[in-house]
Amino acid sequence: MTRFTRRQALTLLGGSAVAAACAGQTPGPVSPEGVAGTDAFVPLHELAQAKGLRFGTAMSAGQLDDLRYLEIVRRECGVLVAENAHKLYTILPQPDAWNFAPGDALADFAQDNGLGMRGHTLIWSHPRWLPDWLNETEFATAGEAEAFLDSYIGRVAGRYSPFIYSWDAINEAVDPATGELRETPFTRAMGPEAIDYAFFAAKEAAPGATLAYNDYMSWEGGHETHRTGVLRLLERLISNGAPIDALGIQSHSNEDMPNEYTPEKQRAWRAFVDEVVGMGLDIYLTEFDVNDTDLGPDIEMRDRLIASYTRDYLDLMLSYPQTKELLAWGMVDKHSWLQGFMPREDDVEKRPTLYDSNYQAKPMREAVAAALRAAPDRA
Ligand code: G3I
Repeated sequence: MTRFTRRQALTLLGGSAVAAACAGQTPGPVSPEGVAGTDAFVPLHELAQAKGLRFGTAMSAGQLDDLRYLEIVRRECGVLVAENAHKLYTILPQPDAWNFAPGDALADFAQDNGLGMRGHTLIWSHPRWLPDWLNETEFATAGEAEAFLDSYIGRVAGRYSPFIYSWDAINEAVDPATGELRETPFTRAMGPEAIDYAFFAAKEAAPGATLAYNDYMSWEGGHETHRTGVLRLLERLISNGAPIDALGIQSHSNEDMPNEYTPEKQRAWRAFVDEVVGMGLDIYLTEFDVNDTDLGPDIEMRDRLIASYTRDYLDLMLSYPQTKELLAWGMVDKHSWLQGFMPREDDVEKRPTLYDSNYQAKPMREAVAAALRAAPDRA
């Protein structure tokens, strides 16, 4: 991995216009705020940084071949997170079949371009997203499960330390239907302490990285049990002294549409976030996007509702000084995982991200910029 970062060099040279020019990029039109490469255009990561926040995106290794996408990521982002490449099912699809190639490629891209990197995720505590061979493993003792966690987390978090400055140590451990922990080979052998143990192992392997519990509980209707379960888990982790710094709030809005973010739902959501920050945790918005499955096909209408929701949601979340990260789950519509999830009946392309499939900024990008500009400063 390169040690001298492009963004560090460009910062010395001065500004994003120079950044675009040095990279040989042709800055495209971006938004009424300005045009990339002119004085009026301010990249989102700079707007975020001015308020003490980090802005970035998820990316898959395959997207490294999409040069127009890379141009947007280089221009707008300060942070990268691997969409799938740092998951256990990618890194260890079979016992002893270690596969670091896609995760390394993304880390190299981040490092070569002066981006920071978050890690997602050391243990996805959900049997659906663990490889079959691991789901079928019955650890004979708690000690055997601990040894696996020590070895896997040690190797993965250790490999990217200190470059990856923050890890989702555990992802989605709480079953939204019951609020209880999902069963995995680790919880079968160790009980709930499997979750705590992963945090301790991550701290040992990457002592400089902040550690988050990441999940998809949200403001949406029907998420009450999920929110309660997450609060119980966070309380338990803290009372057991686990080294947890933040709650990762994924910030997908999946089932409820953007126009269903009502004042009543916002009140209940705020009560949840209040409890989290009351425990002394930071908030990371780790996977922001907006699903438009049930909105009519009119593009102008969808973009307007999505932008309006984006502004309202971010205004609420950024009003907490504890919110330190805002990561989009993809920056260009055609690459969004949502295109294949809850498909639209009319089959038109969804518009869940900041840039359309022609790489043009959408009103959602302006809404993110406006929310960042309006956000209070934080330490
Ligand atoms: O790479 C294979 C390809 O070889 C194969 O031909 C194809 C056929 O299905 O599958 C490809 O893998 C897919 C992979 O994404 C890469 O595109 C998997 O099937 C698919 O399940 C996987 O989906 C990812 C999903 O997590 C499950 O890991 C999505 O891209 C990714 O956006 C999504 O991200 C999650 C976060 O990690 C956690 N929070 C929710 C979020 C959205 O579901």
